[in-house]
Amino acid sequence: MGINDKILVAGAGGFIGGALISLLRKQGYRDLRAVDSKPFDEWYQRFEDVENLSLDLNLKENCETVAKGAVEIYNLAANMGGMGFIEHNKALCMLSVLINTHLLQAALKYGAKRFFYASSACVYNGDKQKTFEAPSLKEEDAYPALAEDGYGWEKLFSERMCRHFMEDFGLTTRVARFHNVYGPWGTWFGGREKAPAAICRKVIEAKVLGRHEIEIWGSGVQTRSFMFIDDCTDGIQRISNSDILEPINLGSSEAVTINQLVDIAEEIAGIKLKRNYDLSAPKGVNGRNSDNALIQKYLHWEPSTPLRVGLEKTYRWIYDQYMARERGEAGVVREAGNSWSASS
Ligand code: NAD
Ligand code: GDD
Repeated sequence: MGINDKILVAGAGGFIGGALISLLRKQGYRDLRAVDSKPFDEWYQRFEDVENLSLDLNLKENCETVAKGAVEIYNLAANMGGMGFIEHNKALCMLSVLINTHLLQAALKYGAKRFFYASSACVYNGDKQKTFEAPSLKEEDAYPALAEDGYGWEKLFSERMCRHFMEDFGLTTRVARFHNVYGPWGTWFGGREKAPAAICRKVIEAKVLGRHEIEIWGSGVQTRSFMFIDDCTDGIQRISNSDILEPINLGSSEAVTINQLVDIAEEIAGIKLKRNYDLSAPKGVNGRNSDNALIQKYLHWEPSTPLRVGLEKTYRWIYDQYMARERGEAGVVREAGNSWSASS
């Protein structure tokens, strides 16, 4: 990919898309097109020297508009969130199929050289995630298919759509299965936030308000691995530029229980809280970890930021956002989403 090639990032107003645009910009790419359906003041990161477009990519004509001239396309646009969102919005999650379908068609029509699709660990067979012992999921564990209802099935279908556009139509597609991604400039309140941001916010709230309790969804012994955002954007580029034809895990292999996640957040905050477990809250699978044998084999690389290191950066960032919101400072425009824009 040349420094002057046009690169399209779909979902650039969101967490990972915003981070990818920020990275590409720092790397010197000059012709960046950032697209998201949200109004500009709700984008997490927005840069004035980038072509920013607020367009609904469910619509085929908008996908054609944005794909025109793009050499490389990254599809990070989806209607998604943590368990609190995907468990209650299955139809909305499945409708993201329109974005990827129309973007693939537009990529083919306008001759894009590469197409990257952001899939998820939610494609994996639920039966393989029943144990709390953090089962490491290998790529082959997606089949026979029993994906997360709604969101996971859409991801699995869209993965296959990428494969068949490559096999039947010759479009170069790459697919990564992200495992729970966290970091600064991500969703930290409003209902779509995932466990790392939610736990940081709850610990901060308890500390600031002097309320020495925390509500945890589930029993706390569920296991997950969490990937820091810098590893995610690094991995996206490595996979996109590779010859890896099949969907591949992009996740940390440092599995922790949710209780251990809370331990780390408490340690960063310097407090200890009484834990209240809400067993009726959305829980998702009991255990999940990323098996990184395949990415190691292909790239001799895997996400490596220790959770303690990444969570500290995330905690500090959320703390600043929280305090700014408490002070009613400009930047946080509305309650339903983060609205901070970065201009440098
Ligand atoms: P995000 O919600 O922060 O960003 C997604 C963006 O897509 C949002 O800004 C949203 O407005 C935009 N979008 C939704 N519908 C759109 C439409 N019709 N047209 C244009 N834009 C639209 O989520 P994220 O964490 O940045 O996730 C990026 C991608 O990675 C998604 O495909 C998601 O499913 C996938 N993923 C993320 C994680 C994670 O832990 N963050 C894990 C697995 C997979
Ligand atoms: N969101 C959230 N908020 N989760 C909590 C909380 C809380 O306050 N307290 C405990 N949890 C628990 C959840 O019950 C779940 O068992 C675990 O933390 C992880 O929850 P999430 O981070 O919301 O989601 P996930 O890991 O089950 O799935 C996420 O990652 C997938 C990729 O690995 C989702 O974001 C999916 O959309 C994503 O594809």
